[in-house]
Amino acid sequence: MNTSEHYTYLDHSATTPVDPQVVEAMAPYWSDIFGNSESSHIPGQAAASALEQARQTVADVLGCRPAEIIFTGSGTEADNLALRGAAWAARQSGRGNHIVTTPIEHNAVGHTVGQLRDLFGFEVTRVPVDEHGSVDPDDVAAAIRPDTIVVSIMMANNEVGTVQPMVGLGRICRERGVLFHTDAVQAAGRLPLEPGDMNVDLMALSAHKFYGPKGVGLLYVRRDTSLVPAITGGGHERGRRPGTVNVAGAVGLATALRLAEEKRVTEAARLRRLRDRLIEGVLSSITESRLTGHPQHRLPHHASFAFRGIEGESVVLNLDLEGIGVSSGAACTEGEPEPSFVLAAMGIPPEWSLGSLRVTLGHANDESDVERVLEVLPPIVERLRACRPTCQ
Ligand SMILES: Cc1ncc(COP(=O)(O)O)c(C=O)c1O
Repeated sequence: MNTSEHYTYLDHSATTPVDPQVVEAMAPYWSDIFGNSESSHIPGQAAASALEQARQTVADVLGCRPAEIIFTGSGTEADNLALRGAAWAARQSGRGNHIVTTPIEHNAVGHTVGQLRDLFGFEVTRVPVDEHGSVDPDDVAAAIRPDTIVVSIMMANNEVGTVQPMVGLGRICRERGVLFHTDAVQAAGRLPLEPGDMNVDLMALSAHKFYGPKGVGLLYVRRDTSLVPAITGGGHERGRRPGTVNVAGAVGLATALRLAEEKRVTEAARLRRLRDRLIEGVLSSITESRLTGHPQHRLPHHASFAFRGIEGESVVLNLDLEGIGVSSGAACTEGEPEPSFVLAAMGIPPEWSLGSLRVTLGHANDESDVERVLEVLPPIVERLRACRPTCQ
């Protein structure tokens, strides 16, 4: 299906289409410049040179050194490498055993930290969030112990769009001599990303969230940060991420990040206007509706709602029938709707959180898309409420 012609895609926090300029930049690296970047012959050198150019482009955007960038196979892998790598390095040197995080992290972080606790004996403190999904830096300061090795807090939440007070959090970690890891997968292309400004030591990105290809991510690792590789194999990426490097993917990621940064300020301002119109329109036309996440400190393209007494997944399916693609935070487990753990951690009761809806805007969207949602969404919610519980 060609989604661009008859379909209004409003799920850009799930993934984005690849920018045609990115496709073009990647094209030579499939069959023309196809060498293994580790080979010493001419085709290998050509691939290695493209890879190092991509690393330089990323470093220019992030304001860091090229050697501080490790290409990975996804944002999930970058988060795994950061946390396992830092935890195992601390274990090796006997430096500590305690991890601080939050209850609203993406599973790439939440499940990794859970496994480090359950299988490897690390202790974990999850600092609570408030009703907007914000972390208080004072709570993080209070949670840090002499044996804390890493604090892992996402820059922006995927489900509710809340942006965390990164500068304050980074300052505390630096003062206390603890590594600061952030999952910036949702923030890339939408917020300033320089790790040096935020005292971030480890930062994960994923290309498919900013109009790059799927299956390629990166981990920024501040110089002199000890990491044990999360997977074992060859000496690629300075021995920190074994596996023949996806050169086309790295070129795609770097091109997409550069383009995203070039457009970031103007595009964020444009999307913020659309987002605010959407939020105002939904809240004023649908009774028992609320915004989830922070009203101000939120991603510019991100609107998320809860509607009392209905199921978000039913709204998603009904909007899909109208040719509009959005998502819901609630999951269905064995036929039973499950409230989102993010909204639960924010103290939102299940009769609201089951009816969660996320609308995330992107380059191709304009006022007409927002007006279309505002036209079709209120009658869908009304209909679902009227026929509850039989038709949900
Ligand atoms: C906040 C966050 N972290 C990590 C990921 C995982 O990234 P990837 O899809 O590249 O594995 C996602 C993807 O949705 C995300 O939203």
